[in-house]
Amino acid sequence: MSGSFISFEGIDGAGKSTHIAALSAAFQAQGRVVTLTREPGGTALAEQLRTLVLNDAMDAMTEALLVFAARRDHIVRVIAPALARDEVVLCDRFTDATFAYQGGGRGFDWDMLAILERWVQGQGAAPVLQPELTIWFDLPPAVAAARLVSARVPDKFEAQPRAFFEQVAAAYARRCDADRARFARINAHQTPEQVWADVLAAVRQRNLLP
Ligand code: TMP
Repeated sequence: MSGSFISFEGIDGAGKSTHIAALSAAFQAQGRVVTLTREPGGTALAEQLRTLVLNDAMDAMTEALLVFAARRDHIVRVIAPALARDEVVLCDRFTDATFAYQGGGRGFDWDMLAILERWVQGQGAAPVLQPELTIWFDLPPAVAAARLVSARVPDKFEAQPRAFFEQVAAAYARRCDADRARFARINAHQTPEQVWADVLAAVRQRNLLP
């Protein structure tokens, strides 16, 4: 696989969306073909699983299995083929979100998630597929909660209490600490212009954009 795979993470309300769209435009301006996608979702099947995960009550293991099932379909049908075509894949959330939400938020077994990660993202004898860069929009849960108050009708996760998001944020920090080379931790409690400058700097530092 020869394309570039970048994922975007953060608690709900961290403000990823506008920066993902801007980054897509920046890559396209360089003549790159961009596959803009999201998790859970990105294929017809995975979008159906997304609807279930975001709306239906279920236990943590069921939730973890459904997001990994969606991820498998997404990798096989969309991400791996796009990377093989040398495209830029910009993915709004990937496996770090599972460790953060199901592992941190729900308290589901971290080692079990690591096993699922190896199975689902393994490509035969090849190494486990991971983004080469993960941009983590780090925002204090209290600030994110204030932003979400005026937003759309909350889904199952957005409606969770503050303590849930404290655990999600701590789990993101744990994933970041375990893979510093892959993560760019960006302070999302700045003006949009400052956040964008940090996003661009992270991408340029890895020579993904001039
Ligand atoms: P979004 O609203 O940013 O598209 O994310 C959908 C929600 O799904 C968000 O609250 C995080 C949650 N989620 C999980 O719980 N586990 C996962 O593996 C992923 C990718 C998302």
